[in-house]
Amino acid sequence: MQILNRLEEARSLDGVTEKLQAAVTAAAQPQRVRDVLHGTWLGHPLHPVLVQLPVGAFMSAAVLDLVPGAHKAATTLIAVGTAGAAPAVAAGWVDWSQLTKDRQRVGLVHAAANAIAVGLYGASLVARLRGRSGRALSFAGLTVAGLGAYLGGHLSYARSAGASHAATELTRVPSTWTSVGALTDFPVREPVVRTVGDVPVLLWRDGEHVTAMIERCGHEGGPLGEGDVTPDGCVVCPWHGSTFRLEDGTVVHGPAAADQPLVRVRVHEGNVEIAQP
Ligand code: FES
Repeated sequence: MQILNRLEEARSLDGVTEKLQAAVTAAAQPQRVRDVLHGTWLGHPLHPVLVQLPVGAFMSAAVLDLVPGAHKAATTLIAVGTAGAAPAVAAGWVDWSQLTKDRQRVGLVHAAANAIAVGLYGASLVARLRGRSGRALSFAGLTVAGLGAYLGGHLSYARSAGASHAATELTRVPSTWTSVGALTDFPVREPVVRTVGDVPVLLWRDGEHVTAMIERCGHEGGPLGEGDVTPDGCVVCPWHGSTFRLEDGTVVHGPAAADQPLVRVRVHEGNVEIAQP
């Protein structure tokens, strides 16, 4: 953990990360491509789904390499894993480009380790196709991939990369109906932020109908209340541009992959009240 902490603070990597971020942003165009790679259509990040193919293939190849007579099957799995790494790499870089600098530094080493691992597997594949064993190269690849996986796990589970920053907010909304003001206090088709307990909520009135979503953006916690509203009733996060439909929280554009959580709303005796779902 101390090494990871030092890596997160390694400002010397920032020259490289800034250039790479610009390159990824330029390459991942148009928006639709980024949305696909972020997993906006899927409901959660695509990268962890895509890594299952190379990880599964490489792990299975390692087992088969220990089984007499299974060398050819292991070689096939290494070919599948090496080819399957490409989409996982693309999705990973697009997610990485929207992280904070400290996590980008760790992500850079995560990506470098995985690139070395795939290179070792590629070399193993070439050796195998030329009639040699190739096992030492593939086991070396598995070892380096393990380091890459450790860093990826740290980013996801210790540093919440890819996790929803809005889901936990929902649990702190009062479970009983709580008034946030008279209906007449809410202008039509103009989002308003109210804080309930210590949770900011974004309310949207359309005629007599009011909806409310967690105001902290699910992607990285940006303030949706400070975002622009599009003519078709979506709010655009001011930090990285995730776009959510105000009426139902649906994510329209990433980098957020999940819908923005809604809270329950009712109009009771002229007052707008909200409660945890
Ligand atoms: S915090 Fe990243 S898009 Fe909202």
